[in-house]
Amino acid sequence: MPSSRSSRPGIILAGGSGTRLAPATGAFCKQLLPVFDKPMIYYPLSTLMLAGVRELLVITTPTDAPLFERLLGDGAQWGVHFSYATQAQPRGIAEALVIGESFLAGRASALVLGDNLFFGHDLPTLVQGAMVRARGATVFVQQVAHPEAYGVVDYDAEGRVRDIVEKPAVAPSRWAVTGLYLYDADAPALARSLVPSGRQELEITDLNRAYLQRGELTVAQMGRGAAWYDTGTPEALLEAAQFVHALESRQGLRIGCPEEIAWRQGWIDTEALQRLAHPMRHNGYGRYLLGLAAP
Ligand code: DAU
Repeated sequence: MPSSRSSRPGIILAGGSGTRLAPATGAFCKQLLPVFDKPMIYYPLSTLMLAGVRELLVITTPTDAPLFERLLGDGAQWGVHFSYATQAQPRGIAEALVIGESFLAGRASALVLGDNLFFGHDLPTLVQGAMVRARGATVFVQQVAHPEAYGVVDYDAEGRVRDIVEKPAVAPSRWAVTGLYLYDADAPALARSLVPSGRQELEITDLNRAYLQRGELTVAQMGRGAAWYDTGTPEALLEAAQFVHALESRQGLRIGCPEEIAWRQGWIDTEALQRLAHPMRHNGYGRYLLGLAAP
């Protein structure tokens, strides 16, 4: 499917064991849980759609795959295309590139974690700008109060990236690596060559370090105008939901709304938007969509 601004396919990784959110994840995986008014996966999906990505692979667990297919379908309703693949066991984020190798078919990619929520006026421009680079990898970093829970950037005195360390006991900086990554065509082969870590995972940080060692890693800083949440714990999930609620109720605008993005991107027309909204016309989400198209 041709894309308006980017021909880069995207992968959304939405598997894992969800143990930190049990028992909320007892029946299905966390990326299907709501973050305020919509399923969690809508947010990272929206981030990719805003960057112009229309060809998407959703990787999830064998038991959750039918649920995602029911939720998202083939994507035609939003002018995008979804393919699906499964990850038998959570053997690491970098395995997404191995699983996605045939889908990517030698092309550069965008990878996003299904539990990451991004918001910021300049973000689509930042991501689109980085997508122009055909070679190497780009990671997006943001300052956080508690970087120890993440991949963290180690900068030298001149501000050059010396290393990225995964969940360090003592963080070398406050710059955490978010769950949004851009890779060139080499990523599946590089991911396959990684040695599994102590917890038997293909670590995304090891893949990023491989690019760093080749001198081909770009670290793009998200400024304080951008918001980034990962929703891996009950507290983080609540915080993200409160953030979405606060923004939406104050501005009267919705965030992470694939129908709206598809319409604004020109991937679906007003009639299609109204068709999507119709079954939801009695709730706030549907009324919002109908209001977008109203004169
Ligand atoms: O959120 C950003 C962080 O994500 C980065 O700063 C870290 O460098 C990166 O390792 C990762 O850390 P997490 O501790 O958040 O990773 P977690 O194991 O929780 O996995 C992140 C998401 O990916 C989660 O929604 C589950 C999914 N996942 C994870 C693994 C390991 C899979 O679908 N399959 C997997 O094999």
